[in-house]
Order: sequence, then structure tokens, then C-alpha cells
Amino acid sequence: MLNHRFITEWKGAESFVEGAVEFIRKHAEGRKVFCALSGGIDSAATYLLLKKSGIDTVPVFIDHGLMRIIRGKEEREHIKKLFPDVRVVDIRSTFLPQIYAAGEDAENKRKLFKKAYSDTISRVIKEERCQLLADGTILPDIEESFGVKIGDVKESMTTADEAKLLEKNKARFVKSQHNLSIEYEVEATVQPVASLIKDQVRAVLEFFEMPVDLVYRKAFPGPALSARIIGPVTEANLAMEKQVHDIVESTVDDHYMKEHKKPLIINAAGEQEPFQAFAAISDDVTTKKVTGLVNGARTYELPAIERGELDLDALIGKATKLKGRARLFFEMAARDEGIYDVVIRSVNSKDARTASVTRLPLPVLGELKDAMLQIPAVKRVYLDVTPKPPATIEYV
Ligand code: XMP
Repeated sequence: MLNHRFITEWKGAESFVEGAVEFIRKHAEGRKVFCALSGGIDSAATYLLLKKSGIDTVPVFIDHGLMRIIRGKEEREHIKKLFPDVRVVDIRSTFLPQIYAAGEDAENKRKLFKKAYSDTISRVIKEERCQLLADGTILPDIEESFGVKIGDVKESMTTADEAKLLEKNKARFVKSQHNLSIEYEVEATVQPVASLIKDQVRAVLEFFEMPVDLVYRKAFPGPALSARIIGPVTEANLAMEKQVHDIVESTVDDHYMKEHKKPLIINAAGEQEPFQAFAAISDDVTTKKVTGLVNGARTYELPAIERGELDLDALIGKATKLKGRARLFFEMAARDEGIYDVVIRSVNSKDARTASVTRLPLPVLGELKDAMLQIPAVKRVYLDVTPKPPATIEYV
């Protein structure tokens, strides 16, 4: 199979879009293209470029039921509003029972997601008779997968060429691109945003005059909210996770909109701030192992709990030196009634490989805590003050 990637030097959104349209027409003219929209910015930019190129495209959103709620609306409603021609493929009735039965093993959950995505994509490609698949692979995905600079990658490569490149650069390999290991029954893939970094993708969305909440949408993991439910996923805790997640993401967005007129800024360290802001839940966070990162390897350890005065800088300093524990959680509130512990996490990052803790002002943290305590099922509220490393961004 062939992979076509648009590799170009960035000279601004307008000239990028012009070049990308030419690239897409060269490889996709007269073909039908499958394009999965994930809710994220990379696939949105990919789809907008295909549309602008006048290519017959099938845009698909797979609704497995574990997407986040943003400002009270499920992701499928946001996508439908942004892209009215999207085909929503609802796999909730078959997928949710599988995830409820999956237990707490993180890899098990990841495998279920991978299979659900690939089976659904394969089915729709067949039904719609698509010859090509377009995806929103971006520059860090390619550089981390092949261990080379984007300039060393050719516009069109066979999967056999890529295997050779991977073998040659094994030592510099960081992670496999999420879609690299799955081959679909298509003639080729088309990757129009392959040479872009996140900020350039945002500039492309701005060029297409997309709304600010899409342009600055925060990254969201493939395994969706299952990466934020510590322990097994149930119908009840999934509903809870959606509710508290929305509170954190919306409150943090509102704070940045008020302070900076944008929900996300590039800070003095060159990081996207906040890169992600979310909540995780558990029935008892103090007794559950969570993921960490030590010397480049994933660890799985209990968190350490800190109480007392909320001095963010001191806590972050302490978290940086953690040993034998994956996280430092600061207890913001605790009461006897309630069922769930909520962990608030907001991190800044350039590319998700490392992350620092967002210094949210105390009044914003207070607002978050109060909002959580309004929910009768909430028992305790924690703030995760651990950078990556020694923590990971997500909890599984
Ligand atoms: P961690 O938790 O490893 O996350 O620090 C780094 C970035 O990747 C996202 N993430 C995932 N994305 N499949 C994905 O597509 C996954 O299994 C997965 N795990 C984590 C995470 O949200 C963060 O941006």
C-alpha cells in the first residue's frame, strides 16, 4: 500500500492551503475518500482541505459513547454542527457493554478501542466503496514513528519502504503512529497535514474561519474517557466523569478567555497553556495505582497524598522529586458523604512528550472545588500537581 504525505515548508496558511489542494488533487482526483473526524483539529483540517479540493469525501464520526461532553453537549452534536454532512456511526450499543466488561487493565481498554475503530472504519470503507483514506497525521507523529526529520521522508512511500526506514532508525524511534500499524483495504492513504505542527494546523483552521472553540480545542486521547476513569468503567461512573470533565475544561477555558481572549496561549516556555485540562474519577483514588514515567518507561504506582496549605509551586517542586509513587495529589476537599473522588488535572506542553502543571490561580481552583462539591456524589476533590515526568498526562 502507498502513503502520500504533503511535505512542504511552512510559509503561512494561505500558501499552505494552495499547495495542499494541489497535492490532494494530484493523488485523489476521481477517487472516493474516507475521512474519519475525531473531534480534534488535525482531522478537521484534513477534511476541510479535501472539501476545498472538491474531492468526493465520506466524513465519518464514530460515536462509541466515551467522548467528552463540552458545555453540556456531546461531541457528536458539536461535530454535526461544525460539519453538517458528517455521517455519525453510532456503535454505542455494541461497544459500551464491551468496555464495561473490560475491567481495569489499561492495555485491554486500549485494544478494545483500536479494534472498534478499525472494524468500523473497514466496514464504512467497504460500504461506501472508498478507494482512499485520508487522515490527520501530523509532523510529530511522523518524526517519532520513523526517527527521522520530515525532510527525509518522501512524498509517496510504500509500506515496505517505510518498514525499511523504521528498521534503519530504530534507535531514534519514540512511538508508533496510531494509524501506522493498521492497514485498511484502500489503494493509498492521503496525509495532507503531515508536515504541520499543532500551531500551523490551528492557523489552517483559522484560514477556513472555523469557530474559536474548534481552533483551540484541547487534545483528547484515543481511548477517550476510559483513560480518565481510574478502575473499571461503569454506566454510572461514565456519566459522572462526563459531568466533572465538562466542569473542568469549561471553567479553565473561561478563565483563559477572560484573561487572554483565547482558550489556549503559547507561554514563555513555548508550551501550549493549557495543553489539556480535565477531570479524572475513582471510587477511592488513594488506593488505585496510576501511570507514571520514569527514565522513559511507564510505571504503575500508587499516588502520594498531600494536605494542608495549597502552595502550588512548593507542591510541584515536591512532585518533581517523587520516588516510588506515580503522582502527588493535593486534597482540596473531603467529606464523609459521596461516592467519587475527583482529580483535577491541567497541564501545559509543547508536544505531549513532557508536560508542566498549569499554575491556575487560587480563585479558579476554588471555583472548581466548589462546583465539584455541588455534586452530591462527589466525596473528595484532589488537584494533581505532578509534571510529566515523573507522571504521564493521563491515568492509564
Ligand atoms: P500520556 O498519558 O502518555 O499522554 O502522557 C500523552 C498524550 O497522548 C494522549 N494519549 C493517547 N492518545 N491513544 C491516543 O490516541 C492513547 O492510548 C493515548 N494515551 C494517551 C494523551 O491525552 C496526551 O495528549
